Amino acid sequence: MRRRCLALAFLFLTACGDAEPGPDRADLDRDTLVSGYAFLTRETQREQDDEFLNPGFLWVDRGAGLFNSADAVRASCASCHGAGDRPLAGVAARYPRIDEETGKLTNLEGRINFCRIRHQAAEPLAPESEDLLALSAYVASLSRGVPIGIEPDERLAPYYAKGRDYFFTRRGQLNLACHHCHDRNWGRALRGDTISQGHGNGFPAYRLEWQSLGSLHRRFRDCDTGVRAAPRPLQSEDYLALELYLAQRASGLAVETPAIRP
Ligand code: HEC
Ligand code: HEC
Repeated sequence: MRRRCLALAFLFLTACGDAEPGPDRADLDRDTLVSGYAFLTRETQREQDDEFLNPGFLWVDRGAGLFNSADAVRASCASCHGAGDRPLAGVAARYPRIDEETGKLTNLEGRINFCRIRHQAAEPLAPESEDLLALSAYVASLSRGVPIGIEPDERLAPYYAKGRDYFFTRRGQLNLACHHCHDRNWGRALRGDTISQGHGNGFPAYRLEWQSLGSLHRRFRDCDTGVRAAPRPLQSEDYLALELYLAQRASGLAVETPAIRP
């Protein structure tokens, strides 16, 4: 371990040799809060901002189509969430949250699947399927520019603690926590990228590396794999809790879905 620490020392001056994080481990300094957008090239920023250039809008458009479509047995999402009764603008900025029926933490993808099951008598969509990405990108895009803000709810506390713990726990062969890269070393270069603060405000996002749109949990899997740790399943309780911690940590940052990211 010692040698590996030395090898990474030029990057993680602060990561090695410190005590295992205890209860006093420090969260991101809120005065420095900044979106991953700030680390994009000027050109990629312009692409993200332009609905015609941003490839993520292909999924948003497809999602809008799915949202409005109905068939003989199934009411459309729009029939319940159209202009009048339950409009979804701003909703994504408040997720993840507790689902009242199950009492469990759910993110936007999970919530959409609950509506399919409960209100459309349809099968849930598979995580990372094109249809679920499209619908969640569409619904999240209705919150573009809205600041992330989780509504206070004491039932969230155990999930928040679990997500925070995941964020601060060292893992993988590199023995690094999310915290080491995204709290302590943001702004520094790593393998051709600049490490950001690791916020989820752009997801689902179009990643240039994927050449596709992908969910936040897929991004978590890439970061876990990056330190050679076993990634958790999409929609696992660990990743849902982590998503909650990140949302709380990013509160006030505007939703950018669909963002473009390296
Ligand atoms: C028959 C009416 C109906 C249909 C169809 C329906 N929903 Fe819903 N939806 C609801 C109701 C009612 C709620 C409030 C929670 C509940 O009772 O389940 C809700 C809640 C939601 C929420 C969370 C809103 C919030 O404020 O937290 C989202 C997001 C959502 N639906 C998306 C969708 C999508 C996407 C579809 C299509 C795949 C869809 N819904 C289809 C009735 C419907
Ligand atoms: C070895 C350093 C490292 C570790 C450890 C790490 N990441 Fe990352 N992460 C990166 C790099 C590099 C990127 C791509 C550039 C960027 O946006 O930061 C990234 C991107 C992200 C993004 C996307 C940010 C955006 O704006 O698109 C999120 C979210 C994220 N990481 C979360 C996590 C979480 C959660 C963990 C712990 C499970 C973690 N990361 C662990 C290096 C790391």
